Amino acid sequence: MKKTSRRARQEALRRQQQKQRIVWGIGIAGVLLILFAVIMSLRSQTIPAIDPDDPEAVALGRQVYEAQCASCHGINLEGQADSPEGTLPAPPHDETGHTWHHNDVYLVESIKLGGARLSSSQGVSAMPAYENILSDEQIGAVLSYIKSAWPTDIRLSQAQR
Ligand code: HEC
Repeated sequence: MKKTSRRARQEALRRQQQKQRIVWGIGIAGVLLILFAVIMSLRSQTIPAIDPDDPEAVALGRQVYEAQCASCHGINLEGQADSPEGTLPAPPHDETGHTWHHNDVYLVESIKLGGARLSSSQGVSAMPAYENILSDEQIGAVLSYIKSAWPTDIRLSQAQR
């Protein structure tokens, strides 16, 4: 009799500990989820506004593009046929290229960090880092300009990435 009640008490204790573990688990998962949501919202806030349907942004973007980017990426976004020996060619930004295969976060990061963001196995890129040269508004504008050259289906497809 004594034996079974001790076992019952042990069993109750074990169940209680199990419950506590579950409560802790849910709590920790909740905290992680909130942290994740905060990080994601901070990340999306750091992306400058990009709007290919805003004529002012597109006009500013064209100026920035012609002054800073056209020498490598081509005046008509066509890319670079020849790049200096041992360096990657600047890819086209029109719909024939793969720029639209990347999401906005990646594109903004590429412009801010330039070729320095690539690892040595990816090759040598002469692309300058623009984070201290262009403002966020100018970076958003240059992407608005680039996107304004894309047909609607390409724009929609890029927006899903
Ligand atoms: C000195 C040449 C050079 C200049 C100037 C230059 N780029 Fe690039 N860019 C490159 C090269 C080379 C790559 C491919 C390697 C890489 O991703 O760094 C590249 C890649 C990119 C990418 C990555 C997207 C993709 O299609 O892979 C973006 C976006 C980009 N450039 C935008 C710009 C913008 C916007 C400017 C002007 C503000 C600019 N670049 C100026 C050479 C240049």
